[in-house]
Amino acid sequence: MSVLNKIARTLVSNRRGILAADESIGTMSSRLEQVGVEATAENRRLYRELIVTTPQLAESISGIILADETFHQSLSNGRTFPEYLGDIGILAGIKVDTGAKALAGAPGEKVTEGLDGLRERIEEYVRLGATFAKWRAVINIGDDQPTDRAVRANAHGLARYAGLCQEGGLVPIVEPEVLMDGAHSLSKCQEVTTSVLERVFDELDLMQVQLDGIVLKPNMVVAGSESLKQPSVEEVAKATVDALRASVPASVPGIAFLSGGQRPEVATQNLAAMQNLDSLPWELTYSFGRALVGPALEAWRGVNGNEAAAQQALSERAVANASAR
Ligand code: 13P
Repeated sequence: MSVLNKIARTLVSNRRGILAADESIGTMSSRLEQVGVEATAENRRLYRELIVTTPQLAESISGIILADETFHQSLSNGRTFPEYLGDIGILAGIKVDTGAKALAGAPGEKVTEGLDGLRERIEEYVRLGATFAKWRAVINIGDDQPTDRAVRANAHGLARYAGLCQEGGLVPIVEPEVLMDGAHSLSKCQEVTTSVLERVFDELDLMQVQLDGIVLKPNMVVAGSESLKQPSVEEVAKATVDALRASVPASVPGIAFLSGGQRPEVATQNLAAMQNLDSLPWELTYSFGRALVGPALEAWRGVNGNEAAAQQALSERAVANASAR
Protein backbone atom coordinates (compact mmCIF):
# COMPACT_ATOMS: atom_id res chain seq x y z
CA MET A 1 0.00 0.00 0.00
CA SER A 2 1.49 3.38 -0.94
CA VAL A 3 1.78 6.15 1.65
CA LEU A 4 -0.81 8.21 -0.26
CA ASN A 5 -3.25 5.31 -0.35
CA LYS A 6 -2.80 4.79 3.39
CA ILE A 7 -3.58 8.47 4.13
CA ALA A 8 -6.59 8.45 1.80
CA ARG A 9 -7.93 5.32 3.49
CA THR A 10 -7.39 6.78 6.94
CA LEU A 11 -9.44 9.82 5.91
CA VAL A 12 -12.46 7.85 4.76
CA SER A 13 -12.59 4.66 6.82
CA ASN A 14 -13.61 3.51 10.30
CA ARG A 15 -16.88 5.43 10.06
CA ARG A 16 -15.04 8.72 10.32
CA GLY A 17 -15.18 11.73 8.02
CA ILE A 18 -13.56 15.09 7.40
CA LEU A 19 -14.35 18.47 8.92
CA ALA A 20 -13.89 21.43 6.57
CA ALA A 21 -12.77 24.36 8.73
CA ASP A 22 -10.92 26.09 5.91
CA GLU A 23 -13.20 29.04 5.22
CA SER A 24 -11.21 31.86 3.63
CA ILE A 25 -10.54 34.95 5.75
CA GLY A 26 -13.40 36.73 3.94
CA THR A 27 -15.94 33.91 4.38
CA MET A 28 -14.99 33.23 8.00
CA SER A 29 -15.17 36.92 8.80
CA SER A 30 -18.69 37.25 7.44
CA ARG A 31 -19.83 34.08 9.27
CA LEU A 32 -18.47 35.54 12.53
CA GLU A 33 -20.13 38.89 11.90
CA GLN A 34 -23.45 37.14 11.24
CA VAL A 35 -23.38 35.86 14.85
CA GLY A 36 -22.21 39.18 16.26
CA VAL A 37 -18.49 38.45 16.60
CA GLU A 38 -15.93 41.01 15.46
CA ALA A 39 -13.94 39.64 12.52
CA THR A 40 -10.36 39.77 13.79
CA ALA A 41 -7.53 37.27 13.28
CA GLU A 42 -7.66 36.52 17.01
CA ASN A 43 -11.41 35.79 16.93
CA ARG A 44 -10.97 33.51 13.92
CA ARG A 45 -8.21 31.73 15.89
CA LEU A 46 -10.35 31.49 19.04
CA TYR A 47 -13.27 30.04 17.11
CA ARG A 48 -11.04 27.47 15.38
CA GLU A 49 -9.49 26.54 18.74
CA LEU A 50 -12.98 25.92 20.12
CA ILE A 51 -13.76 23.66 17.15
CA VAL A 52 -10.60 21.54 17.26
CA THR A 53 -10.61 21.11 21.05
CA THR A 54 -14.12 19.60 21.07
CA PRO A 55 -13.92 16.52 23.32
CA GLN A 56 -13.71 13.12 21.56
CA LEU A 57 -13.64 14.75 18.14
CA ALA A 58 -11.17 12.16 16.81
CA GLU A 59 -13.75 9.41 17.26
CA SER A 60 -15.79 10.77 14.36
CA ILE A 61 -13.39 13.09 12.54
CA SER A 62 -10.39 11.69 10.65
CA GLY A 63 -9.04 14.93 9.22
CA ILE A 64 -9.60 18.68 9.48
CA ILE A 65 -9.03 21.01 6.55
CA LEU A 66 -7.49 24.30 7.64
CA ALA A 67 -6.98 27.61 5.88
CA ASP A 68 -3.50 29.10 5.49
CA GLU A 69 -4.09 31.61 8.29
CA THR A 70 -5.03 28.89 10.80
CA PHE A 71 -2.21 26.63 9.66
CA HIS A 72 0.26 29.21 10.94
CA GLN A 73 -1.60 30.01 14.17
CA SER A 74 -1.23 28.33 17.58
CA LEU A 75 -3.62 27.19 20.29
CA SER A 76 -3.48 28.67 23.81
CA ASN A 77 -1.31 25.71 24.82
CA GLY A 78 1.38 26.85 22.38
CA ARG A 79 0.98 23.99 19.86
CA THR A 80 0.39 25.00 16.25
CA PHE A 81 -2.95 23.82 14.82
CA PRO A 82 -1.36 21.06 12.68
CA GLU A 83 0.78 19.91 15.63
CA TYR A 84 -2.25 19.78 17.91
CA LEU A 85 -4.28 17.78 15.39
CA GLY A 86 -1.40 15.29 15.16
CA ASP A 87 -1.37 15.04 18.99
CA ILE A 88 -5.05 14.03 19.07
CA GLY A 89 -5.02 11.61 16.12
CA ILE A 90 -6.57 13.81 13.44
CA LEU A 91 -4.85 14.40 10.09
CA ALA A 92 -4.14 18.02 9.18
CA GLY A 93 -5.23 19.23 5.75
CA ILE A 94 -4.68 22.53 3.98
CA LYS A 95 -6.81 24.39 1.45
CA VAL A 96 -4.38 25.39 -1.29
CA ASP A 97 -6.56 27.00 -3.94
CA THR A 98 -6.77 30.78 -3.96
CA GLY A 99 -10.43 31.03 -4.87
CA ALA A 100 -12.81 30.92 -7.83
CA LYS A 101 -12.38 33.88 -10.20
CA ALA A 102 -14.35 35.02 -13.25
CA LEU A 103 -13.49 32.85 -16.27
CA ALA A 104 -12.69 34.86 -19.38
CA GLY A 105 -15.08 34.12 -22.23
CA ALA A 106 -17.69 32.58 -19.92
CA PRO A 107 -19.84 35.31 -18.34
CA GLY A 108 -21.15 34.27 -14.91
CA GLU A 109 -18.87 31.24 -14.63
CA LYS A 110 -15.73 30.79 -12.58
CA VAL A 111 -12.42 29.02 -12.64
CA THR A 112 -10.44 28.21 -9.52
CA GLU A 113 -6.96 29.67 -9.31
CA GLY A 114 -3.90 28.82 -7.24
CA LEU A 115 -1.45 26.85 -9.40
CA ASP A 116 1.27 29.52 -9.36
CA GLY A 117 3.95 28.62 -6.82
CA LEU A 118 1.91 25.62 -5.67
CA ARG A 119 4.85 23.17 -5.73
CA GLU A 120 6.76 25.38 -3.26
CA ARG A 121 3.71 26.02 -1.07
CA ILE A 122 3.07 22.27 -0.84
CA GLU A 123 6.67 21.71 0.30
CA GLU A 124 6.17 24.26 3.06
CA TYR A 125 2.82 22.81 4.21
CA VAL A 126 4.30 19.30 4.32
CA ARG A 127 7.12 20.65 6.49
CA LEU A 128 4.51 22.18 8.82
CA GLY A 129 2.60 18.90 9.16
CA ALA A 130 0.02 18.66 6.35
CA THR A 131 -0.83 15.21 4.98
CA PHE A 132 -3.61 16.18 2.62
CA ALA A 133 -4.92 19.19 0.70
CA LYS A 134 -8.09 20.60 -0.82
CA TRP A 135 -8.94 22.49 -3.99
CA ARG A 136 -12.54 23.47 -4.73
CA ALA A 137 -13.89 24.15 -8.19
CA VAL A 138 -17.42 25.53 -8.58
CA ILE A 139 -19.81 24.77 -11.40
CA ASN A 140 -23.03 26.70 -11.90
CA ILE A 141 -26.25 25.32 -13.31
CA GLY A 142 -28.19 27.96 -15.25
CA ASP A 143 -29.47 28.86 -18.70
CA ASP A 144 -26.81 27.43 -21.01
CA GLN A 145 -24.59 26.71 -18.02
CA PRO A 146 -22.29 25.08 -17.35
CA THR A 147 -20.42 25.68 -20.58
CA ASP A 148 -17.92 23.15 -21.80
CA ARG A 149 -15.27 25.86 -21.37
CA ALA A 150 -15.96 26.21 -17.65
CA VAL A 151 -16.10 22.46 -17.02
CA ARG A 152 -12.87 21.78 -18.89
CA ALA A 153 -10.96 24.68 -17.34
CA ASN A 154 -11.97 23.61 -13.84
CA ALA A 155 -11.28 19.93 -14.42
CA HIS A 156 -7.86 20.81 -15.80
CA GLY A 157 -7.05 22.93 -12.73
CA LEU A 158 -8.14 20.17 -10.37
CA ALA A 159 -5.95 17.61 -12.16
CA ARG A 160 -2.87 19.88 -12.24
CA TYR A 161 -3.34 20.52 -8.50
CA ALA A 162 -3.82 16.81 -7.76
CA GLY A 163 -0.65 15.90 -9.66
CA LEU A 164 1.41 18.49 -7.77
CA CYS A 165 0.02 17.31 -4.41
CA GLN A 166 0.92 13.69 -5.07
CA GLU A 167 4.38 14.66 -6.30
CA GLY A 168 4.91 16.55 -3.04
CA GLY A 169 3.47 13.80 -0.81
CA LEU A 170 -0.03 15.14 -0.08
CA VAL A 171 -3.31 13.38 -0.74
CA PRO A 172 -5.42 15.73 -2.86
CA ILE A 173 -9.08 16.15 -2.05
CA VAL A 174 -10.55 16.73 -5.48
CA GLU A 175 -13.64 18.91 -5.08
CA PRO A 176 -15.75 19.78 -8.10
CA GLU A 177 -18.86 21.35 -6.56
CA VAL A 178 -21.98 21.65 -8.69
CA LEU A 179 -23.81 24.41 -6.84
CA MET A 180 -27.36 24.07 -5.48
CA ASP A 181 -28.30 27.63 -6.50
CA GLY A 182 -31.17 27.82 -8.98
CA ALA A 183 -34.52 26.23 -9.74
CA HIS A 184 -33.22 23.22 -11.69
CA SER A 185 -34.51 19.68 -11.21
CA LEU A 186 -32.89 16.70 -9.54
CA SER A 187 -32.34 15.07 -12.93
CA LYS A 188 -30.60 18.19 -14.28
CA CYS A 189 -28.22 18.12 -11.31
CA GLN A 190 -27.61 14.41 -11.88
CA GLU A 191 -26.83 14.98 -15.56
CA VAL A 192 -24.44 17.89 -14.87
CA THR A 193 -22.75 16.17 -11.91
CA THR A 194 -22.16 13.02 -13.98
CA SER A 195 -20.64 14.88 -16.90
CA VAL A 196 -18.46 17.09 -14.66
CA LEU A 197 -17.13 14.02 -12.83
CA GLU A 198 -16.44 12.24 -16.13
CA ARG A 199 -14.43 15.23 -17.31
CA VAL A 200 -12.55 15.44 -13.99
CA PHE A 201 -11.54 11.76 -14.20
CA ASP A 202 -10.44 12.20 -17.83
CA GLU A 203 -8.14 15.02 -16.76
CA LEU A 204 -6.85 13.14 -13.69
CA ASP A 205 -5.96 10.28 -16.00
CA LEU A 206 -4.22 12.63 -18.43
CA MET A 207 -2.12 14.04 -15.57
CA GLN A 208 -1.30 10.51 -14.36
CA VAL A 209 -2.83 11.07 -10.95
CA GLN A 210 -2.88 7.87 -8.86
CA LEU A 211 -6.57 7.35 -8.19
CA ASP A 212 -5.98 5.22 -5.10
CA GLY A 213 -4.30 8.23 -3.51
CA ILE A 214 -7.08 10.82 -3.78
CA VAL A 215 -10.34 11.53 -2.01
CA LEU A 216 -13.19 12.78 -4.21
CA LYS A 217 -15.35 15.50 -2.65
CA PRO A 218 -18.46 15.98 -4.77
CA ASN A 219 -21.84 17.57 -4.14
CA MET A 220 -24.77 15.31 -3.40
CA VAL A 221 -27.21 15.27 -6.31
CA VAL A 222 -30.09 17.49 -5.19
CA ALA A 223 -32.69 19.71 -6.83
CA GLY A 224 -31.88 23.44 -7.04
CA SER A 225 -32.58 25.29 -3.80
CA GLU A 226 -35.34 27.32 -5.53
CA SER A 227 -36.97 24.34 -7.21
CA LEU A 228 -40.59 23.85 -6.16
CA LYS A 229 -40.24 20.09 -6.48
CA GLN A 230 -37.91 18.91 -3.74
CA PRO A 231 -37.01 15.20 -3.91
CA SER A 232 -37.19 12.76 -1.01
CA VAL A 233 -34.13 11.54 0.86
CA GLU A 234 -34.33 8.23 -1.04
CA GLU A 235 -34.46 10.02 -4.39
CA VAL A 236 -31.41 12.12 -3.52
CA ALA A 237 -29.51 9.03 -2.36
CA LYS A 238 -30.33 7.10 -5.52
CA ALA A 239 -29.58 9.98 -7.92
CA THR A 240 -26.28 10.65 -6.17
CA VAL A 241 -25.11 7.05 -6.21
CA ASP A 242 -26.23 6.65 -9.84
CA ALA A 243 -24.14 9.68 -10.84
CA LEU A 244 -21.12 8.32 -8.98
CA ARG A 245 -21.45 4.80 -10.40
CA ALA A 246 -21.53 6.26 -13.90
CA SER A 247 -18.38 8.33 -13.47
CA VAL A 248 -16.10 7.38 -10.57
CA PRO A 249 -13.62 4.50 -11.00
CA ALA A 250 -13.64 1.81 -8.30
CA SER A 251 -9.95 2.46 -7.53
CA VAL A 252 -10.88 5.70 -5.74
CA PRO A 253 -10.84 4.70 -2.05
CA GLY A 254 -13.39 7.15 -0.78
CA ILE A 255 -15.91 9.82 -1.59
CA ALA A 256 -16.46 12.52 1.04
CA PHE A 257 -19.41 14.78 0.30
CA LEU A 258 -19.60 18.52 0.84
CA SER A 259 -22.84 19.76 2.42
CA GLY A 260 -23.27 22.73 0.10
CA GLY A 261 -25.91 24.62 2.07
CA GLN A 262 -28.18 21.66 2.90
CA ARG A 263 -29.64 21.74 6.39
CA PRO A 264 -27.34 19.74 8.71
CA GLU A 265 -29.93 17.06 9.51
CA VAL A 266 -30.86 16.64 5.85
CA ALA A 267 -27.22 16.19 4.79
CA THR A 268 -26.89 13.49 7.46
CA GLN A 269 -30.10 11.71 6.37
CA ASN A 270 -29.00 11.72 2.74
CA LEU A 271 -25.63 10.25 3.69
CA ALA A 272 -27.31 7.53 5.75
CA ALA A 273 -29.70 6.61 2.93
CA MET A 274 -26.81 6.09 0.50
CA GLN A 275 -25.17 3.52 2.77
CA ASN A 276 -28.22 1.28 2.34
CA LEU A 277 -27.85 1.04 -1.43
CA ASP A 278 -26.29 -2.08 -2.97
CA SER A 279 -22.60 -2.80 -2.59
CA LEU A 280 -20.61 0.29 -3.41
CA PRO A 281 -16.95 0.13 -4.46
CA TRP A 282 -15.92 3.19 -2.40
CA GLU A 283 -16.36 4.38 1.17
CA LEU A 284 -18.99 7.13 1.29
CA THR A 285 -18.41 9.70 4.00
CA TYR A 286 -18.65 13.39 4.86
CA SER A 287 -16.37 16.37 4.42
CA PHE A 288 -18.86 18.90 5.69
CA GLY A 289 -18.26 22.51 6.59
CA ARG A 290 -21.51 24.26 7.42
CA ALA A 291 -23.42 21.05 8.21
CA LEU A 292 -20.89 20.28 10.97
CA VAL A 293 -19.95 23.66 12.41
CA GLY A 294 -23.05 25.77 11.66
CA PRO A 295 -24.93 24.82 14.84
CA ALA A 296 -21.75 25.27 16.93
CA LEU A 297 -21.19 28.78 15.62
CA GLU A 298 -24.82 29.67 16.38
CA ALA A 299 -24.47 28.30 19.91
CA TRP A 300 -21.19 30.15 20.55
CA ARG A 301 -21.90 33.69 19.28
CA GLY A 302 -18.57 34.73 20.77
CA VAL A 303 -20.04 34.77 24.27
CA ASN A 304 -17.80 33.73 27.15
CA GLY A 305 -19.38 30.72 28.81
CA ASN A 306 -21.02 29.37 25.62
CA GLU A 307 -17.99 27.27 24.66
CA ALA A 308 -19.24 24.00 26.10
CA ALA A 309 -22.63 24.35 24.39
CA ALA A 310 -20.93 25.09 21.08
CA GLN A 311 -18.67 22.06 21.38
CA GLN A 312 -21.67 19.96 22.32
CA ALA A 313 -23.47 21.14 19.15
CA LEU A 314 -20.50 20.16 16.97
CA SER A 315 -20.14 16.87 18.78
CA GLU A 316 -23.78 16.01 18.11
CA ARG A 317 -23.44 16.65 14.38
CA ALA A 318 -20.15 14.73 14.18
CA VAL A 319 -21.55 11.72 16.04
CA ALA A 320 -24.76 11.78 13.96
CA ASN A 321 -22.74 11.72 10.74
CA ALA A 322 -20.49 8.93 11.98
CA SER A 323 -23.62 6.97 12.90
CA ALA A 324 -25.07 7.63 9.45
CA ARG A 325 -22.18 5.57 8.13
P1 13P B 1 -19.87 22.90 3.00
O1 13P B 1 -20.05 21.52 3.60
O2 13P B 1 -20.31 24.00 3.90
O3 13P B 1 -20.39 22.98 1.61
O4 13P B 1 -18.30 23.14 2.90
C1 13P B 1 -17.50 22.12 2.46
C2 13P B 1 -16.34 22.68 1.79
O5 13P B 1 -15.23 22.39 2.14
C3 13P B 1 -16.56 23.60 0.67
O6 13P B 1 -15.38 23.80 -0.01
